[in-house]
Amino acid sequence: MITFAEPIDADVLRVRNEFLTRKDLHASADAVARLVDVSPRHAMVILDSLVHEDFLERTVDGQYVHRHLKEAVVTRSIACALILVGCVAARAAGQDAKTTRGAQVYVEQKCALCHSIGDKGNKKGPLDEVGSTRSLEELRAWIVDAKGMTVKTKAPRKPEMKNYTLPKEDLDALVAYMASLKKK
Ligand code: HEC
Repeated sequence: MITFAEPIDADVLRVRNEFLTRKDLHASADAVARLVDVSPRHAMVILDSLVHEDFLERTVDGQYVHRHLKEAVVTRSIACALILVGCVAARAAGQDAKTTRGAQVYVEQKCALCHSIGDKGNKKGPLDEVGSTRSLEELRAWIVDAKGMTVKTKAPRKPEMKNYTLPKEDLDALVAYMASLKKK
């Protein structure tokens, strides 16, 4: 009787060893064949048996990886993706809270006496698209230094806007709210 058991066992051990010592090994059957110096067909049989016992895993691109490596990579990417989604959501929520506060400041400061947003307020000074047409610096400058901006832009409308001195948080919120007013 011809037995393949012995040589195959020895080669299996060598392949297993390669994947154990180089945990990041990510190789095709041909590459493994070259690595342990066996025929590609023989390498394939060995790799399939290692996949069968769950030691290796075959990736979609036909490469072989140590099972733990694949799991670690997958777990790591899931963790990264979750952190990212969390950050984006937290940021968006923070931005929402800020613009909501900004809209409150706009009402408290009675900006609508001279400006309109939508159909509310004084139509002579619409701010509906000011987030698209002005930069954050310009929006901030209009609030803290309206007199300077009136001169600089030669704004003719009367009565002129006055300078506002607001707590930093309210100012930031009002700027964020102005910046959120964009062309639909
Ligand atoms: C007394 C009237 C008056 C009040 C009150 C007033 N503004 Fe103004 N604002 C003006 C005038 C006049 C201009 C010059 C541009 C124009 O004619 O609309 C102006 C310009 C601006 C601009 C620049 C607009 C652009 O298109 O470049 C912003 C932004 C602005 N105001 C925000 C505010 C905010 C926020 C408040 C409340 C904190 C406020 N304004 C209160 C009269 C006023």
